[in-house]
Amino acid sequence: MTVVGTRGATLTEGRADFPTGFVWGAATASYQIEGAVREDGREPSIWDTFSRTPGKVAGGDTGDVACDHYFRHADDVSLMSELGLAAYRFSVAWPRVQPHGSGPVNARGLDFYSRLVDRLLEAGITPYVTLYHWDLPQALEDAGGWPERDTAYRFAEYAAAVYARLGDRVHNWTTLNEPWVAAFLGYGNGVHAPGRTDPAAAFRAAHHMLLGHGLAARALREAGAREISLVLNLSPVITPAQVADPGAAPSAADAEAVGRIDTLLTRQFIDPAVRGEYPAEFLDIVGRNGGVDHIRDGDLAIINQPIDLLGINYYNPCVVESGPGQAADAAWPGSEDIRFCPADGVPATAMGWPIVPNGLSRLLVRLSDDYPEVGLIITENGAAFDDVVEDGRVHDARRADYLDGHLRAVHAAIADGADVRGYLVWSLLDNFEWAEGYRRRFGIVHVDFATQRRLLKDSALWYREVIARNGL
Ligand code: FCB
Repeated sequence: MTVVGTRGATLTEGRADFPTGFVWGAATASYQIEGAVREDGREPSIWDTFSRTPGKVAGGDTGDVACDHYFRHADDVSLMSELGLAAYRFSVAWPRVQPHGSGPVNARGLDFYSRLVDRLLEAGITPYVTLYHWDLPQALEDAGGWPERDTAYRFAEYAAAVYARLGDRVHNWTTLNEPWVAAFLGYGNGVHAPGRTDPAAAFRAAHHMLLGHGLAARALREAGAREISLVLNLSPVITPAQVADPGAAPSAADAEAVGRIDTLLTRQFIDPAVRGEYPAEFLDIVGRNGGVDHIRDGDLAIINQPIDLLGINYYNPCVVESGPGQAADAAWPGSEDIRFCPADGVPATAMGWPIVPNGLSRLLVRLSDDYPEVGLIITENGAAFDDVVEDGRVHDARRADYLDGHLRAVHAAIADGADVRGYLVWSLLDNFEWAEGYRRRFGIVHVDFATQRRLLKDSALWYREVIARNGL
C-alpha cells in the first residue's frame, strides 16, 4: 500500500520516499575540522584561547590540527562526491577573514574558502555557508565580546566582506549557528568559550547575536543574497511522562515549566527573528537577570529580517518538570523551580543524549504550525558513539539506526504538512567536539587523528544508498 502524504512524501511498506528535490548533505564547522590555526594570517579565536586553558577541554585537546581540512579540503570534497552529497554546510572562520575582528580584510584567509567553494561547485555540490559557528576573534572578546553591542556591527561588516568574495558563487547563507549555545554555554555556564559565568552577560550576548543576525541578513540581502537562514538548536520541551507517551497531559505546574523553558530555548530566538517581538514572559526573565536596557528601540525591527529558511539542529528532546526550590541552572538563567530530567527508558548516545526520534517530528510539526511563514531544513542531526575500527571497517550500526529513525521522523513530519526542504547530517567527519575534544566521534567518516586517514563508516555507506534512492 502506498500512502501519499502532503508535499510529495510517500510511504510504501517500510519504504519512505522523500519529495523530489529534497536536499541531502552533511555539515561541519571551521574550528572543528580546519586546523592550520596560524596559517595565512589567521589570528586566535576564543576557542584557541579556551582550549589552551587547562581544564576546559577533555584531554587538553585543541583545534590546532583537527582534521587538517585546511590542507586536505580537496580530498574531503572527493569523499563528499563519493557519497553523492548534494549539499555541504561549512562555516567560515571570522579570524581568518578579519584576524582582529575588525579592520582590513585578509584576502589570504578568504582565498581558502574561495578554493573550497570552487572545488565543491566542480563536484556539483551546493555550498551552504555559515558565517558564525562560534569562533569569535579573540580581539573582539578582549573588547567585551558578544555582551558588547558593537560586536553585532562588527559581525555584519565581516559578513559583507565574505559575501563580497563568495557571493558570486554561494547562494545559501546562514548568519549564526545556535546562538543559544554560544550565549548560554559561552557566557552563562562557561562550558564553552569564552568561559564566562554571568547570566546578565549571557542575555546581552544572545540579544547582540540576534542584532548581528539582523544587520548581517539585511546587508547580505542588499548585496543580492538569494537564500538567507538562521540556524537554531531546537528541541521539543516535554515532561518525563511524554518521553514514552507524547499525549500524556502535564500538570499545571509542569506545563508552566515546559512553557518557560520553551520560551528560553525557542521563542527567545524565533519570535524576534520571525515576528519582530520578544515574548513578554521572556522580558520579565531578562528584567530579573541584569535588566533589559541593552534592548534598544528599533532593535527588533532590525532583527526581524525576512529569512528564507530556518535551520534546525536536533539531537534530543529537553525533558523538564516543576521542581519547587530548585535553583536556576547556570545555562538557563530564569529556570528557578524547574528540574531538568533524564529521559528514562530510552537508549542514549556516547554524549549521554537520549535517542528520541519522534521528538523531531513533534518539533517540526509544531514549528510549521506556529511559524508557517518560514521553510525548514535540518542543518544538523547525528550521534556520537564509541566507534572501533576492525579490519578496515567501522560497523557503526547504531549510528545508521539513529539516522534512519530520525529520517523517518522527518518523513512523517513532511507527510503531516511540515515544509522540510533538506537534511544535513552532523557530521561528515569525526572532529573536535568542543569541550569534549576528540573523544566524541560524530562523523559518518572516521578520522584517525594520528595519520589523518579517512575511512567511510558503515553509516556513510548506508547514507550513500539513502541519497541515491532519495529515501529509505
Ligand atoms: C551542535 C554544534 C555542532 C556539534 C554538534 C554535536 O550543538 O552546532 O558544532 O558540536 O552540536
